[in-house]
Amino acid sequence: MNVSENYRNAWESYWRGTSDARGEAIWDADPSLSAAPHSELLLPHADTGRTIVDLGCGNGTQTRYLATRFARAVGVDLSHAAVEHARRAANGAPVEFQQLDLTDTDAVRALHHRLGDSHVYMRAVIHQSEPAARPAVAAAVAELIGTEGRAFVVELTSGSRDVIQRAASEPGGPGPKLQRVFHHGLKPADAPDEEIPRLLAKAGLAVLADGETTLPQTEHLRDGTRIDLPARWFVLAKA
Ligand SMILES: C[S@@+](CC[C@H](N)C(=O)[O-])C[C@H]1O[C@@H](n2cnc3c(N)ncnc32)[C@H](O)[C@@H]1O
Repeated sequence: MNVSENYRNAWESYWRGTSDARGEAIWDADPSLSAAPHSELLLPHADTGRTIVDLGCGNGTQTRYLATRFARAVGVDLSHAAVEHARRAANGAPVEFQQLDLTDTDAVRALHHRLGDSHVYMRAVIHQSEPAARPAVAAAVAELIGTEGRAFVVELTSGSRDVIQRAASEPGGPGPKLQRVFHHGLKPADAPDEEIPRLLAKAGLAVLADGETTLPQTEHLRDGTRIDLPARWFVLAKA
């Protein structure tokens, strides 16, 4: 299957309307708050000599960090504009970016064929994917790690909906970065909490470790508190 035209266009227009300024996307946190602590959770299970693939990499901020911890880092994203941002920001860093729809089974298989069993990093992709597309996104994780790779997946939980709701109902309305998410019809934290582990298990993935965390955002409430969205992380291998 592939994602719907509406969904694809929503992401394309979101990224087309995003500048190269760091942190303009609300989730574009500094890697010290994201891929760095996530790598510490993945590394006890993963060998650094292997390639890591960042699924739904956006503008590649986390991918560039991953390239400092693993032999090679490749970022893939549905949006052409996101990949263009990522390539510009790479500025000579040893990273590679490719436009790819994770629900395109043939394209994912071809990527696995090209890279071999790889580690996967996936931050905040399933939670907002269309319900019908979610099983294919989980299956893409399984395909890319094969038997030897390990995956780190972190997804927003339902608690994020309350935080987003609070931010959206502040006097004066949501801040400009959250407003842009709504404006493009993106649906953060749409997946029910029990669905994500179920999808991962159905894709043939075993949980080696998991836990609760938050994903710090680049926007703050009017009182200055940073918007930190509740999330759950998983380190995964082939079952
Ligand atoms: C919330 S953003 C997170 C971006 C990045 N992972 C990060 O943490 O900075 C979700 C990203 O997933 C991408 N995406 C959504 N569905 C996808 C799909 N089916 N295939 C590939 N990328 C997808 C979007 O274009 C977007 O860049």
